[in-house]
Order: sequence, then structure tokens, then C-alpha cells
Amino acid sequence: MRSRKQSLRVLHVCSEIFPYLKTGGLADVTAALPAALSRAGCDVRMLVPGFPDLVKHIRNKHLVAELPPRFGAQAVRLIYGILPETGLSAYYIEAPGLYDRPGNPYIDIYGQSYGDNHRRFALLGWMSARLVEGFDFFWRPRIVHGHDWHSGLAFAYIRALEWSKSRHLAGTVFTIHNMAYQGNFSGSVFGELDLPSWMYSPEGVEFYGQVSFLKTGLAYAGKINTVSPTYAREIHGGEQACGLGGIVWRRDGDLSGILNGIDTDTWNPAADPVLATTYNARSITGKKQCRLALQQEMGLRSPNSGPLFCVVSRFASQKGLHLVLGAMEQIRKKGGQIIIVGSGEHYLEQAFSDYAGRYPQQAAVRIGYDEALAHRVIAGSDVIMVPSRYEPCGLTQFYGLRYGTLPLVHRVGGLADSVTDCTPETLLEKTATGFVFEHFDQSAMTDAVNRAFDLFATPAQWRSVQRQGMKQKLDWKRAAREYKALYNAVLPANRIS
Ligand code: ADP
Ligand code: GLC
Repeated sequence: MRSRKQSLRVLHVCSEIFPYLKTGGLADVTAALPAALSRAGCDVRMLVPGFPDLVKHIRNKHLVAELPPRFGAQAVRLIYGILPETGLSAYYIEAPGLYDRPGNPYIDIYGQSYGDNHRRFALLGWMSARLVEGFDFFWRPRIVHGHDWHSGLAFAYIRALEWSKSRHLAGTVFTIHNMAYQGNFSGSVFGELDLPSWMYSPEGVEFYGQVSFLKTGLAYAGKINTVSPTYAREIHGGEQACGLGGIVWRRDGDLSGILNGIDTDTWNPAADPVLATTYNARSITGKKQCRLALQQEMGLRSPNSGPLFCVVSRFASQKGLHLVLGAMEQIRKKGGQIIIVGSGEHYLEQAFSDYAGRYPQQAAVRIGYDEALAHRVIAGSDVIMVPSRYEPCGLTQFYGLRYGTLPLVHRVGGLADSVTDCTPETLLEKTATGFVFEHFDQSAMTDAVNRAFDLFATPAQWRSVQRQGMKQKLDWKRAAREYKALYNAVLPANRIS
């Protein structure tokens, strides 16, 4: 048996974990990456806010520490337990009044950000530093790995702690899943954060007169990474930098890109319990049955000889879905069909639904969030479209590859790093996995859709590209190795324990 004593103790700090609480791909990553690191020999624990959807699933709870009121909570407790699906250990922060609210983790039931989000997520960061300080006598992290702005202040609290003790206590890694979500608050809240005043500077927490959680992580984490190599380059300037290009350049030597993996157990066409039938790369006939079953479920005409396109996505401006809207008529007129699953911007919900209302045999739309439906749609479709304006990594193109559903993507961020365009050369070399378009405009999208129709008309070639996609190694092993290398690069040199 592996000796736990020698394992590297890593604390992952985040605000959502699949399948308990998920608003996007972040939750998929914070479920699967820690589990992969654990399999790779790390001693991993999670630290999360005590959101009811997380707390109700955590088993074998026991109290680690009890603290006086802080950050607006009437009491603060640190509780330890086990996440049943992965068996991972998790600390959560119980803070009555702070986390136990209806709505999602960040916004209330009216869609407004909670007014005290700076305190709610400051407490998460503050608690990371307390664990580094030794709050849990039995387990002290040597690495703190935070995800997105929610964890950003952890790096300031840890830096402040180390400054006060004049010692390097823990290595720190900050993963940016999306530069556009920054956790910016009025500069006037700085006084509520319990940070040394010298940190309120352009080199630290301050961002044009505001407190920025994301910038804080960028400023104080030992190493920073984004979720794909291309996105790591893109955030140095222009629109993608979201105003933070200066600090990104300043930290360039510590910045890298590590492409996400996917949970190949959850996303496995050979054993997916929600599909009409299972299939694999060698025997793909089951996919045809999945397609028929899906067409029936969605009320589409079946059989239908043209390709079936799908989208499974948040309807946010990031996702470039106006290009899909603009391609629907083209798809229908050429004899294809389209299924859209998602929710978000109202005008898109309305426009997609109107179109499906007009052509119910060729287009179907489901507004909402439905995990099982997402599996069935991806399995039953021929093409999955991800035409994002920008995309730090993106996961649904990977799900498409795994399910023999060719991704059609804009060449940006992680999409550029994960899909190989069908060209005469790549088809010949058998490296093609999907359709990639260069310019973010309707004519490039139209061209990509036309190319999908053309390839679909040559079944042998289609089959070969499908097989190539299904063969890709998409699990978390490679990324886990790369994260371990980052951890080793930031480990405190002289810490005993
Ligand atoms: P982002 O995190 O930017 O939304 P990703 O592609 O990284 O984009 O992750 C999105 C995740 O959310 C994927 O797991 C995808 O399957 C899932 N998803 C998005 N919309 C829906 C939906 N309406 N129903 C089910 N799953 C969805
Ligand atoms: C963010 C990004 C997405 C990425 C996901 C997981 O939500 O928008 O591109 O796949 O995080 O890292």
C-alpha cells in the first residue's frame, strides 16, 4: 500500500464540485482533477464553502475548529468529511448566514450577485491560510491550489501569513478557468478583508480602484496556470486579457497552460447508463440507435439522412451562439437537423425556441440544465458545435470526441488545442478530428458547416475521423503529471513535516 506519509499534501480550494454543485465546467474539473492527483499519489483534500448542496452530501463529518464571528458570519466552524463519489476528503466552512442561501453559489434567486460576496469568498481564502498555519493538527497542506477568483484571496492571506512569520510555509498554484470572471468589488471593502494595508496596491489586490480577487491570485500565487496552452498565450493582451494584461506579462515566467482532461468514466459511450444503447470505437453501430432514440425523444423527423448537429452550452456571450443561430437555416435547408440544450441570455433562448417552433421536425430546443439529456444529445448527434468567441478550455468538444460526435469549433483557446481540422492532409494522415474555423464570423461558420455536410456525404471518411477522435487520450493522467511538476516547482524548500 502507498504510504500516505510520503504523499504530497495538496489542498484544492474551490466553490463547486460535480455532481453536487455545478454551474459550469469548473465543477467537472474540481471533481476529476483532485481524484486524478490522488490516484497519482498526492494526498488531496478539498476546501469549499458550506453551500447546502455540498454539505448535504459530505459524509462522516467532524468538527476541526470553531472560531469567533468573522466576515459577517455569526459563527465559523471548519468541518471535515468525505465526498462519497470520489472518496476524497473535504473541509467545508460552516458559517450560518453566509453560505446557506437559496440560488446558486454566487447569485440570488433574482440573478443578482450577493452584496457580501467579497466577505463570503474572503472567508474561503482566509481559511486556506489557517490550514497552512496548522489549524488541523493532523493535516497541513504543503501545496494550496486554488481555482478561479473565488479562491483568489487565499494567496494574499497565505502571503501575509508567511510575511508575518518570515517563512515560506506552502507552495501555491492558482488556476484561472476564465479571465472574464474576476470577482471585482469596490475598493471600500478592503478594510473588511483583514489584509495588511500594503497589499492594497497596483502590485497586489488593487485594480483601478477596486479590490480584484482574480488579480490578487495573479499577484501572489507562486505559479499560475490556465486550462489550455493557447489561452495562456491569449490572455497577455487584447480582449482576452480582460484588462489584466499588465500583470499577466509581469508574471509571465510563472504562467503556463495545462490542457484539461475529462472524466472518462462519467463520459464513456461504452458504459453510459443513460444511453439507449452503448457503443465504442470498434463497434459504433450503437451510435445509430442512440441517434434514432434521440430524434424520437426530441420529436425530430427520423430517420433523416442529413447530419444531426447539437449544442450543449451556457447561453453566454463567450460561447458565440449567435453564429449557431445564423447557421440554423443553412443546416435545415441542406437537410440536416439541430438540437440545442442550454440556458442563459434571454434573446437566445427566445430565438432558438422560436426557430424550433417553426420547424419542429428539424430543430429542437430544451431550455434548462439536464445532465442526462446532455449525454444523450452528445451521443446521438453527429456534430457538436462550439463556436466560442473565446474559450479557456471547453469540455463539450472533448465529450464530442469521446462519443464519436465531430466537434465544429472556432480556433481559439482550448478548442484550438484539442481539435484538428479536416483538411486533405490531415484526412490523409488520419489526424483529423473535427472542423475548425479561423475567423469569428458567420461566413467562416457557414464554411465549416458546409465542410461538415461534405464529409458526412462520404461515410468511410466520416467514420475514420470519428475513430480518430474516439482514440484520443482525454483522461486526466497527463494533466495530473503536469500539475505535479508545478507543485514540485513551488514546494517550500526547508519545511519540516
Ligand atoms: P463553461 O464552463 O464555460 O460553461 P465548459 O465546456 O468548460 O464551459 O463546461 C460546460 C459544462 O457544463 C459541460 O460539462 C457541459 O456538458 C455542461 N453543460 C452546459 N450546459 C448544460 C446543460 N444545459 N445541461 C447539461 N449540461 C450542461
Ligand atoms: C471555465 C471556462 C471553460 C473551461 C472550464 C473548466 O468555465 O469557460 O472554457 O473548460 O472553466 O476549466
